[in-house]
This record gives sequence, structure tokens and C-alpha cells, in this order.
Amino acid sequence: MILIIDFGSQYNQLIARRVRELSVYCQIEPPDIDISKVKSLAPQGIILSGGPASIYEKNSPTVDNQIFNLHIPILGICYGMQHMIHTLGGTVESARKREYGLAELKILDPTGVFYGLKNVTPCWMSHGDSASRLPAGFKITASTENTVAAAVENPEEKLYGLQFHPEVAHTPRGKKMLSNFLSRICGCKKTWTMKSFIGKETEDIRKEVTDKRVVLGLSGGVDSSVTAVLLSRAIGKQLTCIFVDNGLLITDEGRRVRGLFKGQFKIKVRHVNARKRFLEPLKGIADPERKRKIIGKTFIQVFEEEALKIKGADFLAQGTLYPDLIESRSSFGGPSAVIKSHHNVGGLPKKMRLKLIEPLKHLFKDEVRLLGKELGLSDDIIYRHPFPGPGLAVRIIGEVTARRLSILRQADDIVLEEIKKSNHYRKLWQAFAILLPLKSVGIMGDQRTYEHIVVIRAVNSLDAMTADWARLPHSLLVRISNRIINEVRGVNRVTYDISSKPPSTIEWE
Ligand code: XMP
Repeated sequence: MILIIDFGSQYNQLIARRVRELSVYCQIEPPDIDISKVKSLAPQGIILSGGPASIYEKNSPTVDNQIFNLHIPILGICYGMQHMIHTLGGTVESARKREYGLAELKILDPTGVFYGLKNVTPCWMSHGDSASRLPAGFKITASTENTVAAAVENPEEKLYGLQFHPEVAHTPRGKKMLSNFLSRICGCKKTWTMKSFIGKETEDIRKEVTDKRVVLGLSGGVDSSVTAVLLSRAIGKQLTCIFVDNGLLITDEGRRVRGLFKGQFKIKVRHVNARKRFLEPLKGIADPERKRKIIGKTFIQVFEEEALKIKGADFLAQGTLYPDLIESRSSFGGPSAVIKSHHNVGGLPKKMRLKLIEPLKHLFKDEVRLLGKELGLSDDIIYRHPFPGPGLAVRIIGEVTARRLSILRQADDIVLEEIKKSNHYRKLWQAFAILLPLKSVGIMGDQRTYEHIVVIRAVNSLDAMTADWARLPHSLLVRISNRIINEVRGVNRVTYDISSKPPSTIEWE
């Protein structure tokens, strides 16, 4: 395995991902990791990540110096390289010219991490400090115009440093460099696969849970579904899932989830019909934040009551992914913080004294999809569009009523059916319908109508942080519009949302 020491760079999650893409298992640990733990992990190589600090700043992160005496190959990236150079007696200075963005890397020594690479290749720089004097035994192996020591090595000790970021896509040959480090320098065998991930995770889960029980909030989305199946592989009947029907779900969601988990996977699912408990307090409420708060609070109450019925439950499993972890760690306190606290049943573990199990916490969405596939989940779940915790309540602008829910569900069914039929579903991040609290005049037959307006929203996105409205073919939009107006009683107008995020958001509330 490869140990990655996390000095806090915005890119460090990508390092882990690249290592896994190269079929090598890795683990990310904080810089204050105890040296005895490093020894017990017995990594074949260590990567010191980049980070926002300068090594001369007070309280800049450091790792125990002893790691340099373990005779384990080490690759320092950006701050990680500077930390290594500084610790081993070299000098790191504030560079006269800061270097941000693309640079041309001239490779002086095509061995080591640069084995098999051409003399010149682009690289992505992002630093203010540079190494100006190297410790004994080190030499420069690549330079850019502004940074002489863009790459250094001490091949005797198997210590390597890259001032640029090999993990980002802007360093097109970066993966080859990491591959050289893993295979040629550390001697890693490329044997890690999703299969081995499942093996290791199930073993770890069993060790942690022993004979206790685990509860999991099943939403029917990709993350909680994959978590459920993985846990069920590990601990079988010790897992109980709780599916809360809040009355704000799309058509047939409850039946689908029950059928799949109880039917195909034989997982215990407690299906809680809590529709009334959600819809009652939403009566007369039009303010989006109040709606969200009511739904969030009710969810926690319902979930807690249900979980307390499960005797001996010591653990709460959640489908937290790596980006969730990063976001909740950051000080960003905008709407996404609220989203996360609801989505990930925030507050529950503390309140209920449950220990958290988050087996997907090092994975990215597309890796979770691969894992889901390996676990036998169908494409229908693996590629399911995200659905917000507060459900259709944030897609019904204004008050949520049974009638409005029914109109929106019918319209949404048509949107999804047509999008799937025309093979656009997998290409889109999300597609859905929204119901406005407005009526407009229309004409049907010879009659004047005064009815509701439905909006279609379809977006492309990589991570929901930014999104662009999808340029769906007009013919498809025409079909959806015609069908909604003809088939959904109470709707006489359909519009298409052509706003991107930012400044709009994906959901309307
Ligand atoms: P916005 O509307 O903020 O949404 O652009 C970004 C992504 O998050 C989803 N979303 C939520 N997910 N609970 C969730 O679990 C929520 O409260 C929530 N609000 C928005 C949204 O569908 C989109 O994918």
C-alpha cells in the first residue's frame, strides 16, 4: 500500500484517486500520524501531498522526521517536496517569481519518476516557495523557466520531489510519473481493484462491528444503496435499513426501493410511512428555508424513533463520499453546509451516541458507481440522478399540497420517461420538473383555461458545484411539453429553464 500524508492541498484527494486508478491501494492520513502507525501500516511508498502553507509559517504542518529514516521511498509534491528539502537540511526560499498555472517542464534525467518521458512536457505549477539549495545526495532532475528545482531526487535514498502537481489533469504525463514512482521505485504490484476494495472493507467492517447492529438511512440514491449492499455483504442480518417515506418522493420510489433491497438483496428494510408527519407541518408554508427546516427536523425525529426500536444498534452507516468530507471540513457555511447536514443525517450520531461507519468516505462518485456495479447493483440505481433530501417540496414553489404533489409527479414521470427513451438520461446530471405557484391563460379546444405552469430543468454537471443547462434537442422538448399539457390535468403551459449554476442553483428552492 501507499501512504499519503495530507498537508491540506486542494488537490490531495486527486493523488489518492490517481494511485487507485493505477490499481494500488492507498490510505490518506494526517501529518500528525504516529510513527508507530506508519511502521505498522508498512507502506511500500509514502507520498507527501501539497498544501497551502509555507514551511516558514508558524504552525505549518510537519510530519515526524523519522519517516525519512525508514528506508521507504518518498515522493514529496509541492509543499511535500519543500518540507522534505527543508527537513533534510536544504533551503527553501520565497521564490522571486511565483509560478501559477501551466509551465513547460524540461526533463534533465529521464530515469526515476520521469522514466519513458520526452524531454519537454507541460506541468501545472502552483507555488510561492522553491528549493534554492538541495540537501546532500540530491540533484535536480527537471526545471521550468521560473523554477530551477522543479523536480529533484536522491536515488540512493529513494527520495523524490516534484514542485508541480502530477495528480492534476493539466499535467498530462503526471499519471505516468506517479506510475513510475509506484511501480519502478516502490515496487508496487498493480493488483488493487474494486474487488479487493470490497474484500478489505468488508473485513474492516466486520472487525469494527463485531456482533453489534448497524442502522442505515436508505434514500434509494446511489450512495446509500451502495453502502447498504456493501454492509450487507459484510455483516448480513446485523444491518437494518430505514427508509422514510416523507410523502415528497417521486412516483413509486418506496415500492422500488423495497422491492430491490428486500427482494434482490435480502436486506432488512424498515419502511416508515411518515407522509402525514411531513405534510401536516408543511401546510400553509411557502418559505423555502422554513420548508427545508421542517423537513430536516421531522426526518431526524422519525429516523431517531425508528432507530431506537432496533435493539443493540451501536453504529450508524452513512454513504458519505470524499467530496462530502472535504466540503464539511471546509469553513464554507453556505447552503451546501445545510444540504450536507440534512443529507447525511447530521446531528444523529451525536444525539444517539452512535458510532459512524462511512465505508465510501475515500471514494469519488464514479468510483462508487464502479463499486456498485461490482456489488451487483443494476444500472438503474448506479446511474440514478441525485434527488434532494427535501424531495419534491423544493420543486413545488410555494405551499406543498397533495394536489400539487400529484401534478408535479405526473409531469416529472413524463420528463423522465422521455429523457430515458431518447437516451439522454445517462448523459445528464439531473432532469426533473418544477411546479410554479402561478397560473396562466390558455386555450384547449374552444375553451379558455387558467391553469398551472410546469418548468423543465435539465443540467449537465460534474459535481453539482457548477452546472450548465442542457441543450436538449427541440424535438425532445416538444414531446415532453405536448405530453405534459395533454396528459396532466391542471397544466396548460410548460417552460424550459435556461439558467446555469452559478448564479442560479440546480434546484429551485
Ligand atoms: P443546488 O440546488 O444547491 O443543488 O444547486 C446541488 C445538488 O444538491 C442536490 N440538493 C440536495 N441534496 N439534500 C440533498 O440531499 C438537499 O437538501 C439538497 N438540496 C439540493 C441537488 O439536487 C443537486 O444535485
